[in-house]
Amino acid sequence: MCGIVGYIGYREAYPIIIKGLERLEYRGYDSAGIALFDGSGINLSKTKGKVEDLKAKAEASISIEGSLGIGHTRWATHGVPNDVNSHPHYSNSGNLVIIHNGIIENYGAIKEELQNRGYTFSSDTDTEVLINLIEEVMKKEGVMLGKAVQIALNQVVGAYAIAVFDKEKPNEIVVAKLGSPLAIGVGENEFFIASDASPFIEFTNNAVYLEDEEMAVIRLGKEIKLRKIKDDSIAYPLVQELQLNLEEIEKGGYDHFMLKEIYEQPHAIKDTYRGRLRSAQGIIKMAGVDDHLQEFMDADRIIIVACGTSWHAGLVAEYIFENLARISVEVEYASEFRYRNPVITDRDVVIAISQSGETADTLAAIKLAKEHGALVFGVCNVVGSSIARETHAGAYTHAGPEIGVASTKAFTTQITVLTLLALKLAKERKAISEEDFTAYMLELEEIPAKVEKALESNAIVEIIAEAYKDSSNCLYLGRGYNFPVALEGALKLKEISYIHAEGYPAAEMKHGPIALIDDQMPVVVIATKKGHYEKVVSNIQEIKSRHGKIIAVVTEGDEQVRDLADHVIEVPETFESLTPLLTTIPLQLLSYHIAVMRDCNVDQPRNLAKSVTVE
Ligand code: AGP
Repeated sequence: MCGIVGYIGYREAYPIIIKGLERLEYRGYDSAGIALFDGSGINLSKTKGKVEDLKAKAEASISIEGSLGIGHTRWATHGVPNDVNSHPHYSNSGNLVIIHNGIIENYGAIKEELQNRGYTFSSDTDTEVLINLIEEVMKKEGVMLGKAVQIALNQVVGAYAIAVFDKEKPNEIVVAKLGSPLAIGVGENEFFIASDASPFIEFTNNAVYLEDEEMAVIRLGKEIKLRKIKDDSIAYPLVQELQLNLEEIEKGGYDHFMLKEIYEQPHAIKDTYRGRLRSAQGIIKMAGVDDHLQEFMDADRIIIVACGTSWHAGLVAEYIFENLARISVEVEYASEFRYRNPVITDRDVVIAISQSGETADTLAAIKLAKEHGALVFGVCNVVGSSIARETHAGAYTHAGPEIGVASTKAFTTQITVLTLLALKLAKERKAISEEDFTAYMLELEEIPAKVEKALESNAIVEIIAEAYKDSSNCLYLGRGYNFPVALEGALKLKEISYIHAEGYPAAEMKHGPIALIDDQMPVVVIATKKGHYEKVVSNIQEIKSRHGKIIAVVTEGDEQVRDLADHVIEVPETFESLTPLLTTIPLQLLSYHIAVMRDCNVDQPRNLAKSVTVE
């Protein structure tokens, strides 16, 4: 999730763009850059690091004059964070510059074609390919920048929010959007471009938000004209008068980053499987796995090491790997694994899961595994993080920056990556039929919409939260794939509302915890239709007979549990192994609303840090 900022008008562009980038740093940063037109040429500076590093470098190395410019703060998806991979990117001629937020999935094939035509590339990014495709179209078709951008974008597959300008035509900026946000600030004889309104809200509160597959050639002194990229038809700009303040904009209008990130999950899951899940071709493409496929195929077992929520994602993965790929899996707390002198051989594959990629215990577990010759595969959300660099291979979750300390979209995107990996290995090991493999891929593509549907339970969940916000304890129960979800739900509640909560396999109730049940004990039970449903119903009846308060997460349309539970939250039906992606949603919302009602600091809970980089 990068940040883009652009300006064309009568003011000096540099201070506007730099300040705008600082405001977008919450969207993630590992590098930043700026390109300015000074009346005769383009001056460009970019660097790994934060916007403050860019300021220092730019002010020491280039002219920062000019009233036309574009800037970018990068959250890497292709190409590690370094100066060369930072944006903006020049075209080969040096006439064009681009900034881009998104992923071009078919950039490899396009790059090869351009190289055959003599184009050279200095970075590993998909963005540099796109700007040279645009340049090639301008040359070959003899068209201006706007038309060239339109033709080029009809050849790419993926997501983008881009801003491009041509030093030969410095009175315009071309923008286009698909899948990543892009707002145009409309001022008096000036225009602003940004990923959200935070960079320009102090200059104008008139904004046009491009819809998907729309583009615009922004010219000074002209009205904005929007066009549909696909068929060149006119789209009419809706100029909105924004009433948001800066903080509200950063949180996307949500009260907290955690709530914003809960609602980002459909997009985050889709971004995570984008380019990897190729149902039309019947393949799952994961470069980090393909490069080590034989080691995965020869592995005696998979050992998963992680902490906290990531450890819960690892537990879900254990059920999926063993059930689908028939590979033996052990899940270990990294903090335990690193010290218990575990048996590790060079026929083990260790999967390290970490949102931040900086968790000390997980990093230490990786080093131990490497010392024993195991292949170590990372599942991280931060490109270029320590764990991403320490592992032999990996697959990133494309969740975008997770600001809230309580992990939400990281959990569901980790499960998404691990499900893709399990399916890929299941197919390679012929542990799954072609038709089941295809069915799983098609169902995974339905998950973002089903998560959207699960989010519609928010209002009901808020009512339930009101009823139990003053509880002292809470139990969470689940079976099978939803046992780890019960653990995760309990962790969410305790870490942001400070209510003591425990998760258990539902069948464990009889081995002790049922002694806790009374009419003061809320019990959250995950009772979806798939996975030992009747057994869970029996557990619910046991709790009810002891006057426990039952909050049940059920498959939509369920009537049997509805008659037994005090509260019911419905989620859409899906495959049993995919239910965690849906059942976790109401539990995230429940913990969020209870914490808000208890006036807790939802995004920065007491005693906690977003990343535990020390033991
Ligand atoms: C989960 O909500 C917590 N923020 C915490 O348990 C977290 O999952 C754990 O510290 C692991 O962090 P990582 O994924 O960045 O390694």
